[in-house]
Amino acid sequence: MRTVYVDALGANASIIGFGCASLGGRVGARRGIEALERAYHAGITWYDVAPSYGDGMAESICGQFASKKRGSIYVCTKVGMLPPDTSAAVRVLKPIARASLAVFPGIQPYFPDMRPKPFKVALTAELIRTSIEDSLRRLRTDYVDVLALHRPTREEAVREDILRAIERIVQDGKARTISIAGNIDLDIDSLDESLPYRLMQIANNPIEPNLQRLGKSARSRTFITYGSFASLDSVIASINAKNGILNGLHEMGYRGAPIEVAAAFVVDYAVATNSAGITLFSMFRKDHLAFNTHRLTQRPPPLHQLNRIAAELSNELRKTDRIEQRPERSTRR
Ligand SMILES: NC(=O)c1ccc[n+]([C@@H]2O[C@H](COP(=O)([O-])OP(=O)(O)OC[C@H]3O[C@@H](n4cnc5c(N)ncnc54)[C@H](OP(=O)(O)O)[C@@H]3O)[C@@H](O)[C@H]2O)c1
Repeated sequence: MRTVYVDALGANASIIGFGCASLGGRVGARRGIEALERAYHAGITWYDVAPSYGDGMAESICGQFASKKRGSIYVCTKVGMLPPDTSAAVRVLKPIARASLAVFPGIQPYFPDMRPKPFKVALTAELIRTSIEDSLRRLRTDYVDVLALHRPTREEAVREDILRAIERIVQDGKARTISIAGNIDLDIDSLDESLPYRLMQIANNPIEPNLQRLGKSARSRTFITYGSFASLDSVIASINAKNGILNGLHEMGYRGAPIEVAAAFVVDYAVATNSAGITLFSMFRKDHLAFNTHRLTQRPPPLHQLNRIAAELSNELRKTDRIEQRPERSTRR
């Protein structure tokens, strides 16, 4: 497994991390732990979780796995989002939904929108203190490597009482470093570098090339990126719509059906554009873990070629959007 030096931790971690957002929600505990074990044996040492993930179950399930490997993995959890209050009816229906998904995986895209969503709560020093204690208990550990403020507002990220509370958590050894997760609107460039956020978790994919958009801050911080496969359908659609894009990818060495070419490009783009950081993937399916880790063993095309294809994809999508948004011409004279 390729590793990367994470300055804030003074250690090397695997260049891809395992995202646990679906652990306990879409994916049940037994299958989830099997997937985490599989990832660990493939060399993945970074595990990303949050109190809100998996309808509030992800940390406890991850804890069953992580407590046995504590010294050899890195765990990031968060504070600031809460799980939805799932009713008894939803809890009963969840195993049925999972079983249906196992039989008819094609219905998966329709599930996320039906699920109640986690929600943001206002950050306070007291919330940070109690949230980390609850997380440590659920994760069965006495420290996490990273505690991330989960989608904070800019005001929260710079507020004095919040800064004091997180400083205290680091001093007490409950988190080794502090990060911001999931809010590109914070305008990272303008966040003072003396603030304690040396890791930043943001979305990044060929359609949403956030790392490329960032200026000098991309060099002074370590980025943990996610959202790679959110772009997959758009990448496939553009490849199918414009021969030139597929030809370009073929010239770069990509082979196979458009869906395989698109998935390989998405993984290569994510890892190559964040080569000094960690890319999170959800990889509960065995074939997804195998595919994504296999890509790391292949030499990716040069970055400028990946960026060129990403730019072509974005142009193609903008064109499609413009066509779809164009009002129908009136037939009345
Ligand atoms: N801070 C934030 O606000 C925030 C927001 C979103 C996500 N995250 C973190 O990032 C993690 C990853 O989330 P993500 O949205 O970036 O997920 P992702 O890796 O883009 O995965 C999304 C979907 O793609 C599938 N997939 C994985 N590898 C694939 C492949 N090679 N081919 C086709 N499909 C593939 C996954 O399936 P399986 O899982 O079933 O294998 C999953 O259903 C989350 O779990 C969470 O830890 C953080």
